[in-house]
Amino acid sequence: MTDTSRKPTTSDSGAPVESDEHSLTVGPGGPILLQDSYLIEQMAQFNRERIPERQPHAKGSGAFGTFEVTADVSAYTKAALFQPGTTTDLVARFSTVAGERGSPDTWRDPRGFAVKFYTSEGNYDMVGNNTPVFFVKDPMKFQHFIRSQKRRADNNLRDHDMQWDFWTLSPESAHQVTWLMGDRGIPRTWRHMNGYTSHTYMWINAEGQRFWVKYHFKTDQGVETFTQHEADQMAAADTDYHTRDLFEHIRDGDFPSWTLKVQIMPYEEAAEYRFNPFDLTKVWPHGDYPLIEVGRMTLDRNPTDNHAEIEQAAFQPNNFVPGIGPSPDRMLLARLFSYADAHRHRIGGNYQQLPVNAPVAPVHTYSKDGAMAYRKTSDPVYAPNSKGGPAADTERYGTPPSWYADGDITRAAYVDHAEDDDWGQAGTMVREVLDDAARDRLVDNVVGHLLNGVTEPVLRRAFAYWSNIDATLGKRIEQGVRAKAGEKDPKAAEQGNPARTSMQDKA
Ligand code: NDP
Ligand code: HEM
Repeated sequence: MTDTSRKPTTSDSGAPVESDEHSLTVGPGGPILLQDSYLIEQMAQFNRERIPERQPHAKGSGAFGTFEVTADVSAYTKAALFQPGTTTDLVARFSTVAGERGSPDTWRDPRGFAVKFYTSEGNYDMVGNNTPVFFVKDPMKFQHFIRSQKRRADNNLRDHDMQWDFWTLSPESAHQVTWLMGDRGIPRTWRHMNGYTSHTYMWINAEGQRFWVKYHFKTDQGVETFTQHEADQMAAADTDYHTRDLFEHIRDGDFPSWTLKVQIMPYEEAAEYRFNPFDLTKVWPHGDYPLIEVGRMTLDRNPTDNHAEIEQAAFQPNNFVPGIGPSPDRMLLARLFSYADAHRHRIGGNYQQLPVNAPVAPVHTYSKDGAMAYRKTSDPVYAPNSKGGPAADTERYGTPPSWYADGDITRAAYVDHAEDDDWGQAGTMVREVLDDAARDRLVDNVVGHLLNGVTEPVLRRAFAYWSNIDATLGKRIEQGVRAKAGEKDPKAAEQGNPARTSMQDKA
C-alpha cells in the first residue's frame, strides 16, 4: 500500500522512479541494462558532486544574517547600506587560508572573514581577514606566498622550512607573522574573532567628498583564543570544531554579532601620513585615527544546503556600490581581478545567477547566454540602442571613485613614508600590546614552529628576523631553539645546527 506521508522519489527530470534500491537487470542474477537511466543519472551526478575547492581559504563555513546601521556615518559615505535606519541582508563565510577542505579548523593560520551584503544598490562584498595586516604588499608575491604555506612538490607535505624561507626573505611579512605566532593566530571560535578589511578603501559622501577608510568588525562575544596545545588537541578531537560551533550556536538561537567600526582618514592626509596608508602590512594606530561606530552584523540563519549556499558563495572585492571604492593599495587592485576569475573557473561563468550570489537589486545587464544561464535575456541585446534597453545613468553615477596618479610605468616598491620600515609596527605590538605572559607564549610558539623542520640557513635568518622585530625577543627565541634542540640532540646543538631533521640524520 502506498505511504502517502512520503513524497515519491523522482529522477532529476521529475518523473517517479521505480526503486531506490534495485538496478534494472535481466533476471535477478543478470547484467545491468543501459536503459536504467535513473541508475546512470545517480552515478553521473555523484561523479560531478565536487567542484574545485577554493585555492586559498578552502576550509570554511558560514551563515546568513543582517547588518543594522546604529550610528550616522552619512558625512563620510553615501552608500545606501550605511545610511541611518538601514538593515541589509547578508551572507558571511569564515575560513582558514592554507588548509584543504577537510583540514582542521584549529590550525594556526589567519581566518578569512568574508561578507556579502545584498544592498538595494547591488551586492557589496567585504572580503577581509581576522587580522588587520597581511604578509606581503605586492600582488606579485601573493601566489608564491600561498604556495609556501601549502604543500611541497616532492612529498606533498606542509613544510615549516619552506614557510620560514619565504618569510625571512620577505621582511614585510614581520608584522603579520608576529600576529600569527601570537595568541590571535588561533581563534577559539569564529564567533570570538574580529574581522578587518585590512586594506584601505575609499568612501565618498553625497557631496562627492572622498575619505580613506578601514573597517574593524569587533566581536561582541569578546576575543578568545586557543593555545597551541589546546588547538592541537581540538584538531584531533574535532576537525570541524569551528564549523560545528557556529552552526550549533545559530541553531540554538545564540546569534553571534559584531560591531562594525571604521577609521576615517581625510583624503588629503594620505600623502603626508607617517605610514603609507595603502601599505597592507601597516595599521593606522588608533591614536591617529580613532574607531567610529557604524552598525552591527548579526548571524541568525544557517544554510540548509552547505554546497549551494556556502561552497558556491562567490565573494569578490570588486563588488562595490555607489559611495564605496578601492584605494591605491596594489594588493587590493590585483584582488579586484583575481576573485571573479577564480569563480568563473571554480563555479562557472554564470555563478552570479545562483541564488546565494544573486543580488536583491534588479539586474539590467547586457551579459547573456553561457553555460547554465538561468536569468532570461530580452531584446535589445546591445547598447547603445533606440529600442528601450537599459541605459547607464551617467549623470547620477558617472563619476568613478578616483585619485590622482601619475608617473612613468615602472616595477618598483612603494615610495616610503616617514615610518615605513618593516619591523616597527611588529615591534610595537611585541613591546606595547602584549603582556609578559602573551610574550612568553609568542616565544614558545615560534620556538616550537622553528624546531619543526626548519634548517640552516633559514634558521639563522629566522633568529635575525625576530631580533629585528625586538632584540630581546630574538635572543629568547634563539636561546629557546638551541636549548630545546640540545635536549633532543646534543650533537646537533654542539655543531650549531639545532634544527637537524630526522631526514638529515639518515643522510
Ligand atoms: P592600541 O593599543 O590602540 O591597539 C592595540 C590593538 O591590538 C587593539 O586593537 C587590540 O585589539 C589588538 N591586540 C590586543 N592583543 C593582541 C594580540 N595578542 N595580537 C594582535 N592584536 C592584539 O594601539 P595602536 O592602534 O597604536 O596599535 C599598536 C599595535 O597594535 C600595532 O602596531 C599593531 O601591531 C597592533 N594592532 C593595531 C590595530 C589597529 O588597527 N591600530 C589593530 C590590531 C592590532 P582589541 O582592542 O580588539 O582587543
Ligand atoms: C580567497 C586571491 C589577498 C581574503 C581567495 C581566492 C583567491 C584569492 C583566488 C579564492 C576565491 C574563490 O575561489 O572563491 C587573492 C589574491 C590576493 C589575496 C590574488 C592578493 C593579491 C587577500 C587578502 C585578504 C584575502 C589581503 C584579506 C584581507 C580572502 C578571503 C577568501 C579569499 C576571506 C575566502 C573568501 C570566501 O570565503 O569565499 N583569495 N587573495 N585575500 N581571500 Fe584572497
